[in-house]
Amino acid sequence: MEDWSDCLDVAVQIALRAGQVVQSAVKQEKQVSSKSTPTDLVTEADHQVEELIISTLREKYPSHRFIGEESSAAGVKCELTDHPTWIIDPIDGTCNFVHSFPMVAVSIGFAVRKELELGVIYHCFDGTLYTARRGHGAFCNGVRLQVSKEKDVSKALILTEIGAKRDPATLDIFLGNMKKMLSAPTHGVRIIGSSTLALSHIASGAAEAYYQYGLHCWDIAAAAVIIREAGGHVMDTTGGPLDLMSRRVVAAGTRQIADYVVKQLQPINYGRDDTD
Ligand code: IPD
Repeated sequence: MEDWSDCLDVAVQIALRAGQVVQSAVKQEKQVSSKSTPTDLVTEADHQVEELIISTLREKYPSHRFIGEESSAAGVKCELTDHPTWIIDPIDGTCNFVHSFPMVAVSIGFAVRKELELGVIYHCFDGTLYTARRGHGAFCNGVRLQVSKEKDVSKALILTEIGAKRDPATLDIFLGNMKKMLSAPTHGVRIIGSSTLALSHIASGAAEAYYQYGLHCWDIAAAAVIIREAGGHVMDTTGGPLDLMSRRVVAAGTRQIADYVVKQLQPINYGRDDTD
């Protein structure tokens, strides 16, 4: 039985290298364009970093498969099979990157037989490195991570992200969901502009829950391993098992807070990563 520890070591080295590219690219002028909607941004750096990550991994693991944000946007089929598959977001928080808002990450997940085995998330601005391997714990810069044990939603800090759709019907549901979270009452709701870093905050116990409609498998893959290995829960917005391709997620430190969030949410339909 493979333990994939060499893959974790390789992923860490590549995430650090990719992070250096992002750090120098953020200081330069950016070529920005949009993808699915005017608010779904991409830059030359996203393409460059994805190419760096995939080509390096492919050289090391020629039989492995790849799902990457920018390859998928360019039409490569987003398909999770039983084969060892790397799931990559080269720059998570592209809008933040464009504005030099300091919440930008490189995210590398890895799945085998559709089971998420490892995750690496590198915060490009402050150098924080989150890592986890299934069954072996989650770490932040080498220090073991533990989710919040809070069960009382009135003491919870909740994180979410907006997603790319801004039509009035979607915004009404988005704001309605946020209103429910605020009026629980919780301690607060935060939006930081990077799904992977927000999810990392669930793993570190800095916030109690995260929910979102409209994110992608490359936003969830690495973070799901890190949160679970830190003792947390990652699930579908209905409360059922996580479906990596479903473009929706709830994550929480405790099952009680996850259940509360699930009960409040009105769904927003973003389709699926593997059919769009
Ligand atoms: C996006 C960001 C954003 C979230 C989107 C993600 P990207 O990733 O994490 O905060 O709302 O759902 O897709 O496009 O910056 O890699």
